[in-house]
Amino acid sequence: MRKKVIAGNWKMNMLPNEAISFIEEFAPLVKDTQNEVILCVPYTDLFYALLSVQNTNIKIGAQNMHWEEKGAYTGEVSPKMLKTIGVEYVIIGHSERRQYFNETDETVNKKIKAAFENELKPIVCVGETLEEREKGITSQIITSQTRLALDGLTAEQVKNTIIAYEPIWAIGTGKTATSDDANNTIKEIRKEIEKIYGKDVAECVIIQYGGSVKSVNAKELFTMSDIDGGLVGGASLKPEEFANIVKSV
Ligand code: 13P
Repeated sequence: MRKKVIAGNWKMNMLPNEAISFIEEFAPLVKDTQNEVILCVPYTDLFYALLSVQNTNIKIGAQNMHWEEKGAYTGEVSPKMLKTIGVEYVIIGHSERRQYFNETDETVNKKIKAAFENELKPIVCVGETLEEREKGITSQIITSQTRLALDGLTAEQVKNTIIAYEPIWAIGTGKTATSDDANNTIKEIRKEIEKIYGKDVAECVIIQYGGSVKSVNAKELFTMSDIDGGLVGGASLKPEEFANIVKSV
């Protein structure tokens, strides 16, 4: 049985004082869950968030990083920097980074490898645009993104990779993929992993759904056979709403 992993992606929201108040209110609400609970916060909140989640079951993630350990990369943050302060997870290849910041399948792959070298767990995002969906090439896009992201990883690393299937047309739009649709695409991702790494590995990989997840639709999505939780944007900014999502399964 795979664990449910529910991660909030705060994107470019929340000042440190807001992050601290959020965690004070949120932590008691989710203290009894068996699910893995992660908050992926802006860099400037990381330190405060890490202090605030001490003695709770909440884990902290970053939303991006560079693949190099250090060097002349003005404005970048390295995996080692994240690891050193106690960060455990990192989102890699979010569609907003692919769309606005030139993230490519190649940089995604480099970052995943760097994450593992630094004992960070990557949450790797894949997803099709509306145009790709309408052209009927969702499968091709998703399987190719998955293959390129995982290229050169060991079976053990793949087992420890979290994949978030986030159809781009469903992000922040209020449009959710139907639970059947999301489950079928996630099955295709798992099949692609099975082709390369075998069934045992594929069955271990946590694959989340993301895109307009809310407390009203979380249970239906997260109880599907292949959906192992979610990556939640807007609804993770409200403690009670996000707690209800975490506790929906
Ligand atoms: P929303 O939940 O706001 O649609 O965002 C999804 C997302 O991009 C999470 O990474």
